[in-house]
Amino acid sequence: MRIRDLRNASRVVLALDLTEPRRYWSIMDELRGLVKIVKVSWVTLLTIGPEGLSKLINYNKDVYFLMDAKLADVGFINNIIAGKLKELGINGVIVHGFVGKVNMPNVEGLDLLVLVSMTSGGELYDANFEGMISMVKEINAAGVIVGGNKPSLIRRARSYLGNDYVILSPGIGAQGVKPGCAIFHGADFEIVGRAIYESENPRDSFIKIEEESKKAECSQ
Ligand code: XMP
Repeated sequence: MRIRDLRNASRVVLALDLTEPRRYWSIMDELRGLVKIVKVSWVTLLTIGPEGLSKLINYNKDVYFLMDAKLADVGFINNIIAGKLKELGINGVIVHGFVGKVNMPNVEGLDLLVLVSMTSGGELYDANFEGMISMVKEINAAGVIVGGNKPSLIRRARSYLGNDYVILSPGIGAQGVKPGCAIFHGADFEIVGRAIYESENPRDSFIKIEEESKKAECSQ
């Protein structure tokens, strides 16, 4: 499964940073058939462990799993970690862009998503945006992560990268960016966590946010 092929299936990446193991299973059951892409993180790995993560992936075979590892080590270590994530069934991994192209992992069949700008802080990233984004074209990357609250950077990323790369934007919902806004400015996917899993009815919230994301309108 490659993330660029999922653009028509869904515009929402569900971020699961849950600290209670059972909730991973209950939320996935609740959103079955709706959620197509799940972003897991160190919180996930530290909560359910590698075996739990592997089971969760196996139990949700039709879902794309992206590991927000925010890798930032030297290349050979990044490669080992990325390889082990692939063995667990992970489909894509997030890497910090600042480590540079020589340190990017390259694992057959594993999407590489490069963090090039953050929703909060990350000013060194934004000061070097052109350099970051040009590096993405020189490596075997599937796309980039750009904060959803930085519309001008989303636009610049899109205009530089064209449509062959995906742009994922966090900051939607709990952090104040309205669903649809990042996509309006050029993102492909909106990363949404708490606005779904902390809501009273995660299924209804998911449906509503997916609809708004697909509309890609922005009145903000
Ligand atoms: P919420 O609950 O705020 O979760 O929807 C956001 C998810 O996105 C991840 N992430 C980031 N969050 N700025 C953010 O605010 C970033 O630059 C960023 N990159 C990734 C975050 O870890 C959480 O899983």
